[in-house]
This record gives sequence, structure tokens and C-alpha cells, in this order.
Amino acid sequence: MSHRLFSPLPLRGVTLPNRIAVAPMCQYSCVDGLADAWHMVHLGSRAVGGAGLVLLEAAAVTRDGRISPGDLGIWNDAQAEALAPIVRFIADQGSIPGIQLAHAGRKGSTSRPWEGKAAVPPSQGGWQVMAPSALPFAEGYPSPREMTEADIAAVVDAFADAARRCAAIGMQVVELHMGHGYLMHQFLSPLANRRGDAYGGDFEGRIRAPLRVAAAVRESWPRELPLFVRISATDWLDGGWDLEQSIAFAVRLKALGVDLVDCSSGAILPGSQGSGEPGFQVPLASAVRHGAGIATAAVGGITEACQAEAILQRGDADLVLLARALLRDPYWPLRAAAELEAAQPSWPVQYQRAVTRMRR
Ligand SMILES: Cc1cc2nc3c(=O)[nH]c(=O)nc-3n(C[C@H](O)[C@H](O)[C@H](O)COP(=O)(O)O)c2cc1C
Repeated sequence: MSHRLFSPLPLRGVTLPNRIAVAPMCQYSCVDGLADAWHMVHLGSRAVGGAGLVLLEAAAVTRDGRISPGDLGIWNDAQAEALAPIVRFIADQGSIPGIQLAHAGRKGSTSRPWEGKAAVPPSQGGWQVMAPSALPFAEGYPSPREMTEADIAAVVDAFADAARRCAAIGMQVVELHMGHGYLMHQFLSPLANRRGDAYGGDFEGRIRAPLRVAAAVRESWPRELPLFVRISATDWLDGGWDLEQSIAFAVRLKALGVDLVDCSSGAILPGSQGSGEPGFQVPLASAVRHGAGIATAAVGGITEACQAEAILQRGDADLVLLARALLRDPYWPLRAAAELEAAQPSWPVQYQRAVTRMRR
């Protein structure tokens, strides 16, 4: 039987072998932004598990673009070199290696989640954060300074340089993080952007910096490789960024050569996350896909093989991203293939004896 979940997805010169992707997930486990053995095992297991695309966690494009001092970085060549063997391993398993590029803006300089979310002062390895406007995310979070035009230009260049480094080590997909209340989302949302200059105010002003980033990365990232953008398709708040603006923004991203919009939501202010019910963000992916005529990814509360298959069958999205379900079970794609009776992906040859035994 033919299944959408296990059908290939061609994007420019890259073909994802199936439509299951590992969603980007911060591990907050780096020193100086360098990936280590944890990342090899964590990401490698999910490639062995059969995901068609393994998207590495938010990688900061500048030192001050990190969420916490433990974030992955991609602002220097040593960080790219540390990722190179992981990228090779993922590709050797038949998965496509990708990475999310990010800048945290006013949500930076905070502690790791398991240490309690608190501001980290410069004396303890933190930094002065910056944002479109001098408004903190919430009480207890660092106070940002308002970005100058030179700061915006530097961030645009940092994203473009990071993409160049990714291409040099064989990364095949880049996703720009423009959601979850981080820097690009801070520009998009009227709830965080109160600027009076060309980078604020109306829709055109608020999308200007994110579009500059997308255009610069499209320029530095090889033409044959796909470019994704993750957005929070709605702030879920009155007077905030909403689905209508997301569709209009996706049209503009598409014109710049963005290939897929990954539709998440919320997090511009504390507590603005949406319902969290199974598949609660799927309607956003569907609206952007049909409204802007661009490929989309659905994410959030996708846990079952038949649920993922139905999303694709209905034409709500072109790709499904799983985060927590894949943390619980790196072999989720292999189990989904068995459940849907799909022929691929197959268990690694090294594990064949266990599979034969299981079937007996
Ligand atoms: C441990 C963890 C780390 C995450 N880190 C990121 C990240 O780096 N970038 C991002 O865009 N989303 C991040 N997310 C959000 C996920 O990508 C995903 O959108 C969210 O968990 C909903 O999907 P799920 O219901 O399948 O978990 C993270 C989620 C988890 C659980």
C-alpha cells in the first residue's frame, strides 16, 4: 500500500527519503557552543531510527544570540568542525542532515531549563541582550537594549555566515528560526516591536529585518539546497502576530526562495502557547500551505503514525515534525513503518537479528 508518510519529498536538489523529521530540540549541553559526544549519540540515534530529516537544534549565529550559555553555536569554524562528523554520520544512515539557525534576542542570557529559567548575569557567563525594542520578555528576564541599524546589519551577516559554514560541512537543509518569541519573531510581532523606524510599525516595517535575513541566507546558502523558515503562525493574543500576517509573510518568503514554512505558534509573551492538544497547530500549517501556495511542515502534538499519515493525506502539510515523541522513542519512524506496513525505512543491518526475533 502507498503511504504519504513514507513517500519521498523532493525539495530543490535534495530528496528527503520520507516525511518524518526530527524537530529542532535544544540540548543546552555545549561548552563554547561546541557539539560533543552527546550530540553524536542523540542525533545519530534518531538517524538510525529512520527519520528522513534530522534537524539539529537551534544553533546560535552569534555568541550573544544564544538562549543559554550551554547552547549550540555556529558563529565560528571550530563549532562547524565539531558538527562535521555528526553531519556525516546522519547522512551515512540515509537521513538528510539539517540545522536550525537562531538568534534569541531578548530571550537570551538565561539559565538552562533544568536549572530553572532565570537571567544569567554577565559575571556568571551571561551577556547584555538586545531586541527590536527595549522591552523585556517578562519580569526576571534580562532587559534588552534597543538594536541599532548596525546591529540589524550585523545579525543579517551572522545568519549568512552561519549558513556558509553549514554548507561547508555538508549540511543539506537550513531552517531559520523566526518563531517562539526569539529575535526574528520579536521583529514580526507588534507585541515586541515598538520601533518607529523602517524596521517597525506596520506589517512592511516589521517583516523588513526577517526578510533581509532570509534574502541574505538564500544568497549564501547553495541554490540546490532547501531553505526552511520556522514561524509562530499566531501569537494567540489580541493585537499580536496572527495567521493572516503569517500567510502574507509566507508569500514574501516564497518569493525570496524559501522552500518550506514550518508552522509552530506562540511564545512571544509568557503563557501564550496555544492549547497543546494533539495536532493543535496543524490547521496553521494547512492555512499557510493553501493561502501562500508554499510547502509546510506540521508540528506539535503529533504522536501516532495514523495521525501523521492523515495530516499528509488531507494535504494539511508536506512534512511532519516530531519532537517529544522522538525523544521518547528514537525508533518511532521504524515502528510507524511497521504499523502502516510500509516497506521502508528498514532497521539497520546491524540490528537485523533483533528484528527477525521480534517477528517470530
Ligand atoms: C527538549 C526540547 C527542545 C526544543 N528546542 C527547540 C529548538 O531548538 N528550536 C525550536 O524551534 N523548537 C524547539 N522545541 C520545540 C519543538 O521543536 C516542537 O516544536 C515542540 O516540542 C512541539 O512538538 P512535539 O509536540 O512533537 O513535542 C523544543 C522542544 C523540546 C521538547
